[in-house]
Amino acid sequence: MSITIKDEAGVAGMRVACRLAAEVLDFLTPHIQPGITTLEIDRLAADCMARQGTRSATIGYQPPGYPPYPGHLCTSVNHVVCHGIPGDKVLKKGDIVNVDVTVITPEGWYGDTSRMFEVGDCSIAARRLCQLTYDSMWLGIEQVRAGAHLGDIGHAIQTFVEGHGLSVVREFCGHGIGQNFHEEPQVLHYGQAGTGVELEPGMIFTIEPMVNIGRREIKEMPDGWTIVTKDRSLSAQWEHTILVTPGGYEVLTLSEGSPAVPDFVQGMAHTPA
Ligand code: MF3
Ligand code: CO
Ligand code: CO
Repeated sequence: MSITIKDEAGVAGMRVACRLAAEVLDFLTPHIQPGITTLEIDRLAADCMARQGTRSATIGYQPPGYPPYPGHLCTSVNHVVCHGIPGDKVLKKGDIVNVDVTVITPEGWYGDTSRMFEVGDCSIAARRLCQLTYDSMWLGIEQVRAGAHLGDIGHAIQTFVEGHGLSVVREFCGHGIGQNFHEEPQVLHYGQAGTGVELEPGMIFTIEPMVNIGRREIKEMPDGWTIVTKDRSLSAQWEHTILVTPGGYEVLTLSEGSPAVPDFVQGMAHTPA
């Protein structure tokens, strides 16, 4: 399968799907407090999606070689890099958790976004990790415009992250998205400027860097999904879905509750209402 270019109707469908995914995170935000379990977060999200009229893209999701994913979303706590399965884990003060939501609209469009949440007061190291990972995502987003190359995104992220003494996970990447969850191209969060696919208006893909305080190596848990840092150091991730426009980009997964865009970001093509 090759890279799909979305037409006006496709872009309209993706704007809706992506906004709804972001609104699930907005809804969850006040609930992410010490004492809640990750399964309770999952239940709240499932109810929210039902009210929206969307479906979870993750529940039952089964790429080749994987067991069916059992959650309506992913909850990745502390040293969990990604794909954490909701369960009886109780969040406690000082934890950091990534909540990753992907919805499917009745029209069949997918919206994919994740945020970090700090549970109560967190250590300076944990807060710095979350902030720098957020900034790295936005530095990647800022590379997006027609004529740029995918490698520009990865290069911007890797240079910034490693410049702060942190590491970029290599095994998972951003991805094209549309009427399928994971489409071409793969959007690496490391690489060389000027290399890779040239961006064209109408391409839609995610940028979702995973950043570790320690070493970049990961391992998979026996559940077949949960990915953790090999050295058990803290890991953070943020994710937006981005449309390539003739002049730059549009961040499709913004909503009222999205955290503020960093000060260094210039020329937002689209800002929250
Ligand atoms: N939402 C994740 C992504 O950003 C994928 C999760 S797949 C799951 O691509 F099965 F683990 F939920
Ligand atoms: Co994604
Ligand atoms: Co995601």
